Amino acid sequence: MGWPRTDLMDLLGVRHPIIQAPMAGALTPAMAAAAAKAGGLGSLGLALKSPEYAAADMAAARGLTNRALNVNFFCHQPSADDPDRFTAIRDRLTPYYAEFDLGEPAAEPKTTAPFNADMLEVVLAAAPRVASFHFGLPPSDLLAPLKDAGVIILSSATSPAEARELEVLGTDAIIVQGWEAGGHRGVFDPSTGPGDIGTFALVPQIVDAVSVPVIAAGGIADACRTAAAFMLGASGVQIGTAFLNTPESMVADPHKKALLTERPTGITSAFSGRPARGVVNRYMVEMEDATLPDFPLMNAMTGPLRAASAKEGAGEFMSLWAGQAHAMNRETGTTDSIETLAEETLKLLNG
Ligand SMILES: Cc1cc2nc3c(=O)[nH]c(=O)nc-3n(C[C@H](O)[C@H](O)[C@H](O)COP(=O)(O)O)c2cc1C
Repeated sequence: MGWPRTDLMDLLGVRHPIIQAPMAGALTPAMAAAAAKAGGLGSLGLALKSPEYAAADMAAARGLTNRALNVNFFCHQPSADDPDRFTAIRDRLTPYYAEFDLGEPAAEPKTTAPFNADMLEVVLAAAPRVASFHFGLPPSDLLAPLKDAGVIILSSATSPAEARELEVLGTDAIIVQGWEAGGHRGVFDPSTGPGDIGTFALVPQIVDAVSVPVIAAGGIADACRTAAAFMLGASGVQIGTAFLNTPESMVADPHKKALLTERPTGITSAFSGRPARGVVNRYMVEMEDATLPDFPLMNAMTGPLRAASAKEGAGEFMSLWAGQAHAMNRETGTTDSIETLAEETLKLLNG
């Protein structure tokens, strides 16, 4: 007997309804290919890349597998111009920069563009089966060409209202991102809050709210939780944190080490200007009361600190993105993890 619901698998063209989450800066094309090899959907997190580097990653993944792939981007608004907040944060970060001998924080940091026409061009040329977005969807002049080309569109929702909006705008399947999830909250407008409903409370609400397939994400890694997501009405799962200790993960050693402990996670905007979940460290605690510029300006401001902290080894200034279930991580390879997960979940679901 197979999976109890196959609408998502048919849509994505995969054998198992398991998506290896796109994780910007944390994964390699080899991870996406390994997930595809196991029959899941492999994803590339390209949100922080230039179109040239994104194209190179897509080509590298394509060189490793001819199966369905997902490419992922952010749809943020550019940061508001706020010289006072910018000056305040430069002053606040200066002593930390000094700790790592980094000189002064940049006066004009280079920020990351949201999904735009240049990126659209390279995506259309690479013709992936799926494109997924975080923080909403791109404007219709960028979305329509993807849909016209037959690319399947996914995006994350952190509330039933966001899910309804995504469905109206033409999203083919909705990723329900529960509060447990690692990395950035997909909330469209962070000024409304970080979107704090837990996965198992949110999945059934969104299943009721929309008619497209629903993908559960946040704190899922094993057969029990995958089967539970199906029992709640989901048609698939998206898993991020559980792949961060695989050989295909490129997170730095301090990050891998922190994941294998029981250290608590928390939500912070202090690394990037948008709320995200990571293992609590010194920077998160000390910056709790800081007034921050918006994403992606804040992300650019902390880039040198994060990189220096990764090299130095303690990781107290790195964004240690992790979901609440990180302590259950294993160092197994991505292909084996997905094959085992699929086999064990099918056993549970089929008695
Ligand atoms: C290190 C890390 C980076 C992430 N980067 C992205 C990203 O670039 N784009 C995206 O849509 N989601 C990103 N996410 C969120 C995942 O898509 C997903 O919601 C989350 O991993 C699910 O929860 P889990 O980590 O408990 O499995 C990231 C998550 C992590 C842990």
